[in-house]
Amino acid sequence: MNIVVTGGAGFIGANFVYYMLENRPEDRIICYDKLTYAGNLATLEEAQKNKQFKFIKGDIADREAVYKMFEEEKPDIIVNFAAESHVDRSIENPEVFLQTNVIGTSVLMDACRKYGIKRYHQVSTDEVYGDLPLDRPDLFFTEETPLHTSSPYSASKASADLLVMAYHRTFGLPVTISRCSNNYGPFHFPEKLIPLMIINAMHDKKLPVYGDGLNVRDWLFVKDHCAAIEIILRKGKVGEVYNIGGHNERQNIQVVKAILKELGKGEELIEHVTDRKGHDRRYAIDPTKIREELGWEPTTSPEVGIKATVEWYKEHEDWWQNIISGDYQKYYAEMYGKKEIID
Ligand code: NAD
Ligand code: DAU
Repeated sequence: MNIVVTGGAGFIGANFVYYMLENRPEDRIICYDKLTYAGNLATLEEAQKNKQFKFIKGDIADREAVYKMFEEEKPDIIVNFAAESHVDRSIENPEVFLQTNVIGTSVLMDACRKYGIKRYHQVSTDEVYGDLPLDRPDLFFTEETPLHTSSPYSASKASADLLVMAYHRTFGLPVTISRCSNNYGPFHFPEKLIPLMIINAMHDKKLPVYGDGLNVRDWLFVKDHCAAIEIILRKGKVGEVYNIGGHNERQNIQVVKAILKELGKGEELIEHVTDRKGHDRRYAIDPTKIREELGWEPTTSPEVGIKATVEWYKEHEDWWQNIISGDYQKYYAEMYGKKEIID
């Protein structure tokens, strides 16, 4: 099979490339990625040594380039990870989120219609369901939970999901969608909570916790997400949505304290700052469908996963030093410079 992984130079996409090269050595894996600030060829250095792997630089919203890639690579499967993925950036500048996440998805699906495809898989997110209240721990997101988005990012991802389902219903495109909870692990871009806190703590810099720090996220080790997508490709039913999560809910402040403990640093580094606008309170996935229908289970608890992730960042300083030495500094100064300390 020829499997095109869009956004494969980013965090989850790259982990998926490695997962597939290891677990499906008979398949060709083609990464198609625009290499935005979040895409990094250094992440794919090992993959480039594998004859089954190929990298193509390109934008999913560029129709001509996408059609050319389809003509040349003849994909059997598309797994679409390519996206603008950071909520804070979407609050500052929504437009590029619509361009990539919505228009880009529609171009990919048009290409699938034109050239034919065995499967188009859309990597979506639990954020399309909005949030849950903190005082109702009995509530979880199921595949039937209505879409109810909060940020321009989640609105763009929900729009893409609707479009994917419309192409399935109207044109019979063989699609599946997965909606996963928060991922963490190797190659996570340091603008996101866990890598940002690890790297700041390693530099004895303040750890900016938004608001009261009681917001809850449902954390999943990235390799478990990759395994879930691979199972959906093999056994998932066309036209279906699958939620992915492992019931690993943690308050942000708990996660930050666990990182400090792992690094042997003191809690005085924590600084509560101005909250994110429209900040979702709690995400929590009900993974019953994927477990019962496809037999997927997560394998890594947050305790083990966070320890392994901290170790990975300790051992791969070259990888993240390169990233934080460039535009990231400007981003950090702009994004965090205007936040006020609230305790
Ligand atoms: P990321 O920001 O780390 O990587 C995104 C990748 O997409 C980068 O390599 C970037 O260069 C590429 N890209 C961006 N715009 C592109 C375009 N127009 N054309 C081609 N490539 C483009 O993102 P991530 O955290 O790895 O997330 C991957 C996918 O998983 C996204 O669709 C996201 O919505 C979804 N998701 C993420 C999480 C999470 O916790 N990170 C959880 C659930 C779902
Ligand atoms: O739930 C899946 C989503 O998880 C994905 O769809 C997104 O692409 C991914 O970025 C992630 O979104 P979040 O907004 O949950 O992740 P982030 O790492 O940005 O923030 C996690 C929590 O930590 C959130 O409640 C905000 C908080 N936070 C974040 C940062 C960057 C802080 O308190 N301080 C920070 O500096």
